Amino acid sequence: MLILGLETSCDETGVALYDTERGLLAHALFSQVDIHVEYGGVVPELASRDHIRKALPLLREVLAEAGCQASDIDAIAYTAGPGLIGALMVGATLARSLAWAWGIPALGVHHMEGHLLAPMLEDERPAFPFIALLVSGGHTQLVRVDGIGQYRMLGESLDDAAGEAFDKAAKMLGLPYPGGPHIARLAESGDPHRFTFPRPMVNRPGLDFSFSGLKTHTLTTVAACREESGLTEQDKCDIARAFEEAVVGTLVIKCRRALEQEGLSTLVMAGGVSANRNLRAQLHKALGKVGARVYYPAPQFCTDNGAMIAYAGACRLAAGERDGEAPQVRARWPMQELPALAGAA
Ligand code: KG4
Ligand code: ZN
Repeated sequence: MLILGLETSCDETGVALYDTERGLLAHALFSQVDIHVEYGGVVPELASRDHIRKALPLLREVLAEAGCQASDIDAIAYTAGPGLIGALMVGATLARSLAWAWGIPALGVHHMEGHLLAPMLEDERPAFPFIALLVSGGHTQLVRVDGIGQYRMLGESLDDAAGEAFDKAAKMLGLPYPGGPHIARLAESGDPHRFTFPRPMVNRPGLDFSFSGLKTHTLTTVAACREESGLTEQDKCDIARAFEEAVVGTLVIKCRRALEQEGLSTLVMAGGVSANRNLRAQLHKALGKVGARVYYPAPQFCTDNGAMIAYAGACRLAAGERDGEAPQVRARWPMQELPALAGAA
């Protein structure tokens, strides 16, 4: 079964072709970063308009790369939420129009389920059950995963998502959006001993997160450095390092706690922040000590992409799922509302 995947939930247009027998055949991505950079964040209307411009050229590109014709496609999976409503509508309208014209089924996919299943695109795939750490621009969640659609929320952020915290800290340091990769780059030259930032909520039981205190601490430190020395490049690197260490430290502690609580030894990490090299290294180290293993997608499939939507859609389409008569795109959509995959235990 050949599935076309379309991702348009935010500021990346992602298109991919996934074959249930042969795997991922082709994928293409257009990032709108340059369009939004002057505004310091994603402008929804500009995002929607650019998805309209890019989706079809990217579709032609993946068809050519895979050596396929449109008539080879058996079904279309598109992101139906959560995300920016206008951006989602572009993908949904395109997917459903093509499906109608080609006489094939379409299915709306949950963006975070796409992220969660992205590690399945790798050669070494995690086996169920596992704990998933979903860390993106909009979500920070720890989920127990017993199968596709069998999700139990163990903890989540009570305020900012981890990626959002990276983006805000970056803004305070005068770095462009999205800030995560910029903070990570500066942190490499930062002194890990100069500042110690608080690790929020680690001393409290439970698996929820909170990053707003860390944000305030970052702001205060930036202001103090600016007063003292005018915020030098080294100050920025040291602050970035302390900030990253605090986020990574918090995530690692909570992941270990979740594995222990559920008696599991497999962690799957996905979403934009899972591209962070320091986070990957520290999770490997900490989980290795307790005989647990961490899986994550290749860097290009950590951030938003069409391949993860094609894959998640392929699993559900292959099990017989289809859009209903009146499919909806949803800005908010708790992942626990998803049905278990038909035929799953
Ligand atoms: O999953 P994603 O592409 O989009 C959402 O669904 O939100 O995640 C984007 C987020 C941004 O906040 C970005 O700053 C962060 O992921 N990010 C990183 C890194 N690369 C992307 N954060 C920390 N370190 C990175 N290397
Ligand atoms: Zn995402």
